[in-house]
Amino acid sequence: MSEEMKSTARKRVLSGMRPTGKLHLGNYMGALKNWVELQNATFEDGSPKYECYFFIADFHALTTDYADTSELRVNIKQVALDFLSAGLDPKRSTIFLQSEVQAHFVLNDMLGMVTPLSWLERVPTYKDQQEQLKEKDLATFGFLGYPVLMSADILLYQPDFVPVGLDQAPHVEITREIARRFNHLYGSKRTAANTAKSDKERLAELEKSTDVREILPEPRVLLTPSPKLPGTDGRKMSKSYGNTILLSDPESEIRAKLKTMVTDPARVRRTDPGNPDVCPVFDLHKVFSSDEVQTQAAEGCRTAGIGCIQCKGWLADAVVKELAPIQERRRHFEQNPDDVDAILDDGAFRANGRAAVTMRQVFSAVGLSRR
Ligand code: TRP
Ligand code: SF4
Repeated sequence: MSEEMKSTARKRVLSGMRPTGKLHLGNYMGALKNWVELQNATFEDGSPKYECYFFIADFHALTTDYADTSELRVNIKQVALDFLSAGLDPKRSTIFLQSEVQAHFVLNDMLGMVTPLSWLERVPTYKDQQEQLKEKDLATFGFLGYPVLMSADILLYQPDFVPVGLDQAPHVEITREIARRFNHLYGSKRTAANTAKSDKERLAELEKSTDVREILPEPRVLLTPSPKLPGTDGRKMSKSYGNTILLSDPESEIRAKLKTMVTDPARVRRTDPGNPDVCPVFDLHKVFSSDEVQTQAAEGCRTAGIGCIQCKGWLADAVVKELAPIQERRRHFEQNPDDVDAILDDGAFRANGRAAVTMRQVFSAVGLSRR
């Protein structure tokens, strides 16, 4: 393949994560691990398949947590450590902090100009989150505008793919709709619409245009397969339930947490046979343990050949093994905080450069320009 073909074949990937504090196994299996795989994917000739951008969405934290930012700074640091520990590599990915690329906010404002309120009000998370987070006052402009900010995060880098979990897919969909509207408004020849008597007529005309320049290409969602990952209480692993196993938990902590994890409730005594199909411990085995261990655990459970403590011990072995290289990298970065700063400085520098390219196109297309 020629150099030129290679670069056209290389697709751009972008994703972000809110700084919620130290990341847990659910964050890892549901997102980070997938990002690392995308970063490391290569063509047959060994060249990278994707140009990757991954960022810490610190500004997004304010959409719900504006009233208390006391933990933001430490959370950002912890997530940065987790990104690098998990294997994101600044040589292969651009890793940065959202607030250090201020074009996110400029594009957010720009897109806000063209986004109908009705689109934002019908985003499923809008009402859901207001219901679920009753203790917070989410009747704010910023919270309603969350999907616009996320669209700006994405469109700023003109990516081909956005890897996210199912919960974020509607946000990528609205990103596509906003991009389409922007492109029709500012990327089509306006002559046809110039006779229109109202915005409505003009928009209708512009939406019919076929010859549209893709200033902001519509990105595609890359759904991250998310295995069922229960926490120690059997509910979905989530920081808000306090049932997590952290990527940074020491081995003794991992073993202790798993020891108290809920099991098949029908298996009361050691001599009772159990049912792995209804046991959250076994759900974790399916994610982390080898086929042999899974078979051994399932058989031992059904025949009461093993006790739950032993079964959990095997699971802990697998989890500890998965996390060993992550924790080794974490130790390195914890001992060398200057390395982390240098990586994020460089990431911001690169991201700002790429963002500037898009912003020039955006400003020029809109007509915010003297020339
Ligand atoms: N909204 C995402 C979440 O809560 C985080 C996010 C912000 C994001 N901007 C993004 C993800 C852009 C992908 C692309 O998980
Ligand atoms: Fe669950 Fe394992 Fe106990 Fe069976 S033996 S109930 S799979 S923890």
